[in-house]
Amino acid sequence: MRMIGKAGKAAAVAAIAALALTACGRTEPGTTGGGTGAAGFEQSSSIGVALPQKTSENWVLAEKLFNDGLSSAGFKPDVQFANGGVSEQQNQISAMITKGAKVIIVGAIDGAQLGTQLKQAKDSGATIIAYDRLLLNTENVDYYVAYDNFKVGELQGQALLDGMKAKKPAGPYNIELFAGSPDDANAKVFFDGAMSVLKPKIDDGTLKVASGQTSFEQAVTQGWKAENAQRRADTLLTGSYGTASLDGVLSPNDTLARAVLTSVKAAGKPLPVITGQDSEVESVKSILAGEQYSTINKDTRKLVEHAIVMVKDLQAGKTPEINDDKSYNNTVKTVPAYLLEPVIVTAANVKTAYVDDPVLGPITK
Ligand code: BGC
Repeated sequence: MRMIGKAGKAAAVAAIAALALTACGRTEPGTTGGGTGAAGFEQSSSIGVALPQKTSENWVLAEKLFNDGLSSAGFKPDVQFANGGVSEQQNQISAMITKGAKVIIVGAIDGAQLGTQLKQAKDSGATIIAYDRLLLNTENVDYYVAYDNFKVGELQGQALLDGMKAKKPAGPYNIELFAGSPDDANAKVFFDGAMSVLKPKIDDGTLKVASGQTSFEQAVTQGWKAENAQRRADTLLTGSYGTASLDGVLSPNDTLARAVLTSVKAAGKPLPVITGQDSEVESVKSILAGEQYSTINKDTRKLVEHAIVMVKDLQAGKTPEINDDKSYNNTVKTVPAYLLEPVIVTAANVKTAYVDDPVLGPITK
């Protein structure tokens, strides 16, 4: 939060500086470093925001926040969802280029499938910001703004251990592992973060994955779809939990956590300790009701706000602030990143975690 404050102030200073230049009648754009290729642009410019499918509430929230935030900063927002899939997202980015977008913010469905469009966007002079999900295998991405995905996974892995221990002090524990969609660059990072905590415990016998499905490839949930997680949970329960108890489940997000809980309930089994992510309304209620064990607070307002701070900096001809220049290599380059801190939420802090959230605050009071 401290970091946002600083960046916000920097942007405000930049905006004032830009106004001062205009007032003096100077139209010369400022210069940027960081190899963005952009050098300031008209404040009324079109800013493209290419969002993926509405696979979780955070994306739906982002749409309104981008529209409102960009408009009130004087830009022309062009916010699109690609519910139809990758080719729709490719077409949307092409259309943004045609409309003259100066910055294109991309939450990719498949971060490796936009190479052609990103090259065209760069050639047109636009700056590319990867939003929440990294853009892979391309040099044509300038910045990455996201919550620290590896940290999200670490927090989930630790929460799973803590939750099981609180319920049953001595192991071993039977667990199952779920991961997100393999085309989303985040999914593997979340899984790797969680496994950095869980794998040593699997190796020393504290944790037992009864199905034997411990690899990312075995754990994935295509399209982040609830029905896919539910179906896999049904199969795992039937195949490996005839008499054994399922003590814990690593779930990468809230939508999938609720799908797994639905499956466990249908099987008539006691509910396992289960992790989540996104602070979705139904999951926060589930934590309050003692069902889902944990979620992650990745306040969408802060993420969108920071993406807009970057746009404002670029508009003013300034290099956007980054706080990480080593973690996110996309196979072609290490993308300069601004990472925000995710926060774990369990029954222990659910009543205080969302005090300033207009939707979750009242629910958790
Ligand atoms: C986001 C998660 C979200 C998932 C499914 C990921 O890329 O980081 O917050 O749960 O997509 O929408």
